[in-house]
Amino acid sequence: MSRNTSMTIHRRGLLLGAAAAFAMPMPSRSETAPRALVARPGKAQLAPEGYPETEIWGFEGQAPGPLLRARQGARLQRRLMNELPVPTSVHWHGIRIDNAMDGVAGLTQASVAPGETFDYVFDLPDAGTYWYHAHTNSYEQVARGLYGALIVEEPEAPDVDREETLILDDWRLDHETAQISGDFGAWHDLSHAGRMGNIITTNGSFILQRAARTNERLRLRLINAASARVLTLSLAGLEGWVMALDGMPLARPIAAQDTLLLAPAQRMDLIVDVTAAEGETAHLAYMDDDGKWWSQVAWDITGSAASKPRPAPGALPPNPRQAVPGVAGARTVTLVMEGGAMGRLQAATYGGKRLAFRELAERGQFWAFNGTVGRTDAPLVKAALGDTLRIRIVNDTVFPHAMHLHGMHFREVMKDSDSLGPLRDTLLVQRGETREIAFVADNPGDWLFHCHMLAHAAAGMTTWIKVARS
Ligand code: C2O
Ligand code: CU
Repeated sequence: MSRNTSMTIHRRGLLLGAAAAFAMPMPSRSETAPRALVARPGKAQLAPEGYPETEIWGFEGQAPGPLLRARQGARLQRRLMNELPVPTSVHWHGIRIDNAMDGVAGLTQASVAPGETFDYVFDLPDAGTYWYHAHTNSYEQVARGLYGALIVEEPEAPDVDREETLILDDWRLDHETAQISGDFGAWHDLSHAGRMGNIITTNGSFILQRAARTNERLRLRLINAASARVLTLSLAGLEGWVMALDGMPLARPIAAQDTLLLAPAQRMDLIVDVTAAEGETAHLAYMDDDGKWWSQVAWDITGSAASKPRPAPGALPPNPRQAVPGVAGARTVTLVMEGGAMGRLQAATYGGKRLAFRELAERGQFWAFNGTVGRTDAPLVKAALGDTLRIRIVNDTVFPHAMHLHGMHFREVMKDSDSLGPLRDTLLVQRGETREIAFVADNPGDWLFHCHMLAHAAAGMTTWIKVARS
């Protein structure tokens, strides 16, 4: 398959070492227009065979959009060309990016009108699994397919036979026509768990068919692009390790559990060995609400790659700036999440006015952070450049929320101890839970901090953090 071919070339190229990579001619910005990334309508066979194709919105008309790959330290340049009927913008999720390139319409840039373009040019400081997606009316645009994977390669790739980037999504399609339901912003979705779909795809396919060999070692880069659904996943006929979360390598690989939880926007890098025997099929499976497992990716085992499994892999090379020092004495901000159906929110401030829950609902707003609905001119917190900050997140709702911080990764401050969790950019906070994060505010600019259940973000769960420029 072409993916295999390109992987072989890729690994051979790496043997040339970093010097060769940097010796490659890089066109300067002024001379060459960046390569295009066209946002436009397209069609995709999302539903099983026999159903019609689904009309989507996608980068290059595909869902997922093209897989972007670059080396750590490289500069990525893409000219967004908007051929959609609506304004859009692109957010490069998880990249420690220059604020002006963050893609948040109304905060870091104006949205790009139909027929217009915007040049995204930024450096990639960290290796890992990232993704890009529309950040204008995200709850509709991401759900229509405007997203893709962004892979930043380590200078020295881990020793695997090949890798697969697997983007999972949850679509709401009409049962007969297989078209995307146009009920964006439906009251029930906004006020409950978000816009849940009825069909899960991997790389845009209902089921992905692959081949593999016993004892083959694969790197799987999982990305949850769903607008709302927390995915419960499992491996069958594959055993291995979690290597990285949200792009960032773990200090020590962790043996992959029987079930893997992936909240919207989260990523997980695995290295797995094929344990299934010839003639069997290995799976990445998804568990539905009734506890039934469904194969998302099926690897038919044809032959054997080695007679015995390899020793456990070492950690992936660390990214720069992984430390979060000074947590003990850091300033702490509390963020109380309230609202939603069956919640306790009576009233909150929206557009400068105090409104009762019913009045908020009439405006399509259902959630509040610290009594305020949606993003206002005042940030949640203003940080001095280089400060360490702690945010205590209190989920006083009956739904889970996947909180995403733009521009910087954080670590979770673990309960009753000083230990810190892995670096992440999206944290799943279950109903009723209180969790705390800490990060170094080392990236100047205005950074969104919001729930990645995108209907929640649109219905009130959005705030921002200001990091001073000096
Ligand atoms: Cu992936 Cu503000 O989002
Ligand atoms: Cu939420």
